[in-house]
Formats: sequence, C-alpha cells, structure tokens
Amino acid sequence: MSTRAARPSKPGRQLSAVVTAGPTREYVDPVRYLSNESSGRMGFAIAAALVRRGVKVTLIAGPVVLSTPPGALRIDVVSAREMLAAVRKSFRSADLLVMSAAVADWRPARKLAGKWRKKDGGTQTTSLELTRNPDILASVARSKGQRLVMGFALETGDGERRAQAKLRRKNLDYIVLNDESALNAIRSSATILGRDGSRQGLARRSKEDIAEVLAELVTDKARAQGRATRGL
Ligand code: CTP
Repeated sequence: MSTRAARPSKPGRQLSAVVTAGPTREYVDPVRYLSNESSGRMGFAIAAALVRRGVKVTLIAGPVVLSTPPGALRIDVVSAREMLAAVRKSFRSADLLVMSAAVADWRPARKLAGKWRKKDGGTQTTSLELTRNPDILASVARSKGQRLVMGFALETGDGERRAQAKLRRKNLDYIVLNDESALNAIRSSATILGRDGSRQGLARRSKEDIAEVLAELVTDKARAQGRATRGL
C-alpha cells in the first residue's frame, strides 16, 4: 500500500496527526507472547498535548492500561503487523506521524494453534524461531512526501551518533533519543535531533513535559511547512 504526499494546507486547515504508543505483542501460542516494558505513557501524553493544540489525533495503541485522552480517536492493535496496517491507513490523510510505540522487532515464525507443551522427561532446552517484523516507521516514512515524521530511538553507548544515522536511514524529520532509564521512569532525559541540524536537550523532565515540547515542535514545523507549500 502506498502513502500519498500531503495536500498543500489551506489557510487555517486543522492539522491531523497519527501517534503510536505502547508495546506490540507477538503471540507464540494462544496464551503466550513476546513483548516489552513500554507503558505507552509517552505516546498518550503526546496525543493529549496535540489535542490541546487543536490537532485532530488518531492514537494507535498497543496493549496498554491507559485511558484515551479526551478528543483523540483511539485504534487498538496487538501485533506489529496490525499496527503497520493501521498506521498506513490513518497516515494517508494525516499531516504528521509521531511513532513512539515500542514495536517488537521479531515475532515467532509460527503461532501454535494449541498450547506450547513441555514434554515431560524431555530435554532441558528448546528454541523459538523468530521472523523479522516490518519496520513501520521506515516503511511509512519512505513515501512521506512533505509530511512530518518523528521517530524515537532508545540507545545505549554512543547513542547520538546512532540516532543521527537512524534519522537519515529512516527518512525522518526528527528523532527523539532516550536512554534505557526512560522505560517506566517518572523523569527522564531526551535529546531531540532534527534533519535540519537542530539539537535540543531535555534533562530530567516528566514524560508530560517532554510530550509538550515535542507536540509544540511538530505542530509549529508542520504549520510552517504548510505555509511554505502554499507559498505564503
Ligand atoms: N520502529 C518501527 N517498527 C519496528 C521497530 C521500530 O516503526 N519494527 C520504530 C519505533 O516506533 C521507533 C523507532 O522505530 O520510533 C525505533 O527504532 P529502533 O528499534 O531503535 O531502531 P532499529 O532501527 O530497529 O535499530 P536497533 O538495531 O537499534 O534496534
């Protein structure tokens, strides 16, 4: 499925955004899955901050226990492949995408129809064959046209160099660099790197504070791009 380039904004046209949040879940059998620690709080806070700025928000959420920010349209998904389909569909008519979901990079090669049983008296080890999940961000950003795309990177070690490389490789406008302390933390630090060479460091802020900064940045940039496209 291909994504269309953005229509030039009409004066005063409401911006629309797609925000992803939370983990994905990749089932091994009907009751077991691979997933991660993501709470979804950052994505939900970004969605809420965008709604407050007058943006029409579609929030695509993996399995999380959070209530929907008032005013956002929420689509619940489970697996990475379901999230990809939902993002492609919603992003077709949107101006910007904020991809804060922690998508599982791998899924079991096969989902068993019945419970995965240990064989009594059998060997003490087993293995699980995994298949690569699609990279949602890279696949959607490839054909984004003038639309704005923000990704996230959770890095250890020389994070900034790696995040810069990811920004270019995935054709993003912005990437938000976090270290592993961000997972489930009350306060965390983030660095926002822009394709335009911008760099903004946010130290020990709440997720809600970081979300406000990100929402302001993407709406200002998307509105400026809309004005530039209209030649104003
Ligand atoms: N992402 C995605 N689809 C995936 C994996 C990640 O859309 N299958 C998005 C995340 O939502 C996030 C960014 O890509 O915005 C983070 O990518 P990350 O997993 O850090 O990068 P990778 O390119 O997979 O690199 P790494 O080798 O570091 O895992």
